[in-house]
Amino acid sequence: MHTTESQQRERIQTVIFSDADSASKTLADEIAGLIRERAASGCGVVLGLATGSTPVRLYRELIRMHREEGLSFANVTTFNLDEYYGLTRDHPESYWRFMHDQLFDHIDLPAANINLPDGTLPRGDVFAACRAYEEKIAAAGGLDLQVLGIGRTGHIGFNEPGSTRDSRTRLVTLDGLTRRDAARDFLGEANVPRHAVTMGVGTILDARRIVLLAWGESKAEVLAQAVEGTPVDSLPASFLQGHANVSFYIDGAAASALTRIRHPWLVGAVEWTPEMTRRAVVWLSRTVGRPVLKLLDEHYGEHGMADLLTGQGSVYDLNIRIFNELQHTITGWPGGKPGADDTHRPERAEPGVKRVVVFSPEPSHDMLGMGGTVRRLVDQGHQVTVVYQTSGNLAVPDDDALMATEFVSDLAGSLAGEPGPAEAMARAVRAELLEKSAFAGDSAQLRQLKGMVRRGEARAALRVCGVDPANVKFLDLPFYERGRYRQFKPTADDQQAISAVLAQVKPHQIFVTGDRDDPSSVTAVTFALVAAACRAAASESWFVDCRVWLYRGVETPWGAAEVDMAVPLSPGELARKTQSIFPHRSQRSHSAVATGLREPWQQAEQQNRALAEVYDALGLADYEAIEGFARWTVA
Ligand code: F6R
Repeated sequence: MHTTESQQRERIQTVIFSDADSASKTLADEIAGLIRERAASGCGVVLGLATGSTPVRLYRELIRMHREEGLSFANVTTFNLDEYYGLTRDHPESYWRFMHDQLFDHIDLPAANINLPDGTLPRGDVFAACRAYEEKIAAAGGLDLQVLGIGRTGHIGFNEPGSTRDSRTRLVTLDGLTRRDAARDFLGEANVPRHAVTMGVGTILDARRIVLLAWGESKAEVLAQAVEGTPVDSLPASFLQGHANVSFYIDGAAASALTRIRHPWLVGAVEWTPEMTRRAVVWLSRTVGRPVLKLLDEHYGEHGMADLLTGQGSVYDLNIRIFNELQHTITGWPGGKPGADDTHRPERAEPGVKRVVVFSPEPSHDMLGMGGTVRRLVDQGHQVTVVYQTSGNLAVPDDDALMATEFVSDLAGSLAGEPGPAEAMARAVRAELLEKSAFAGDSAQLRQLKGMVRRGEARAALRVCGVDPANVKFLDLPFYERGRYRQFKPTADDQQAISAVLAQVKPHQIFVTGDRDDPSSVTAVTFALVAAACRAAASESWFVDCRVWLYRGVETPWGAAEVDMAVPLSPGELARKTQSIFPHRSQRSHSAVATGLREPWQQAEQQNRALAEVYDALGLADYEAIEGFARWTVA
């Protein structure tokens, strides 16, 4: 199934949208059209629905259509894909709760038409209930349209790897990666249920129309495999290839591993822009396993890149040009080298002392992504301001907060006199912690205390890097303090806070992250705020003289061809970077021992080493580790 030459490898109709909002709007229009068409002839519509971050925008749009355009859901029946097993309906993370909060409570869908698998039944009753769920779908006339998201394991619904094409509604065990991805919602992986009830792959494939939505770079690899790979039960979404009426609506970041985007020269003619040329040569070097300077005509020819050589002079001319470009990304002077010729350096030399703003979505992102570079900037005399955009208090386990209350009480107890207000707060918070269930929401004062835990960690980390404590800002952006994961709604106050920092510091350099993340994530929301603040400042004289650099977290590091500035770290610098991650104790991985997955500092180390290895393999210098940055410009 493909419509153009560049899509020849795609076996599912895949539409790339400019952003998640426009994709969601397109699907909402389709759903609304179906509902109205059926209503006009007195018939009903049966929708299959999904939960998670992905469909939130779709549901917001449907609610808007209901409120502003009179779209009625009176003739709609819904069946949800799945439900965690063992959660009661009123549990804040139950899918029943999610669907009511995000959609059902805001539209005129009759309660009797809502169906979700029941996660509360005794084991012995689950099988019969699953069969009854299937029968109810069939009795309703089958699913007219099924909405899907995709998990990083390639699951649809909770059909994890190993699910067969003809599987039906059943009790399943969740994959370790799926449970880790849900750990934040559940305030710790230990709280994430191990099982769920899900429609089967076969149940989903019986729907007359299927639309899968996906946003963010973390979905890109699995999505490309589902669209271009052979259908296999190790990647259940790939079974959608067998369906006659399925579409994937995705954003640019989620599309980034499709061949037409990542390696377009393999599927047709491309326009050889400088950026595309560099990407292709790096890819060729990696693919044939030879350094750039040793690539031969036949390597280009055998890999669909012969036309790249036309007009480039000899193969050697092209190789050396790209080699030099890569070489010029490397600098030990991330703030520019004062007094040096900067024609071929990623940063300009002047002014010799720069005002630098490092935005960190939560405390710890800064150190994981660019701890080594922060240290260098400070050592090289730049004025580094680190701005923590959110408090990060949602990610602090209760145990860490409990320790903090004990510390306050011990301190108060060691001093003579009546217990003061701090001790009273510590006591109240401790009482709350000891009473609350693992999933209950935190009171304002508990969140405040958890935020303080992260502030303390952040300060300790910055001490390792030598950042002046006077240049640290904790913005505690309101969208985060008001919100929950997946459901953040930034407002003008958030925007104002970011713009105010920039107006005050007037930086020569900004470092920021989150540009290609799932739009509902903290990193993506905070990136969007910085991007908007930069756009608003675009005509200010200080901004004209400002460079914006993107750093990456450990989940989706830069590929070598995307890096515009590569800051090498010596073994000693890498060790020091690691020490600047250690203070973020509350962010240690709770599953490391059980799963063999590594701690955040180990992941950061591994990513930085991996980038250095690629530079080495391309024929550049052999460094211990590299932190990579890409330049961002206001569009
Ligand atoms: C949800 C579901 C899952 C999610 C998938 C993606 O009902 O069945 O397959 O669609 O895990 O989750 P998000 O959207 O949170 O990235």
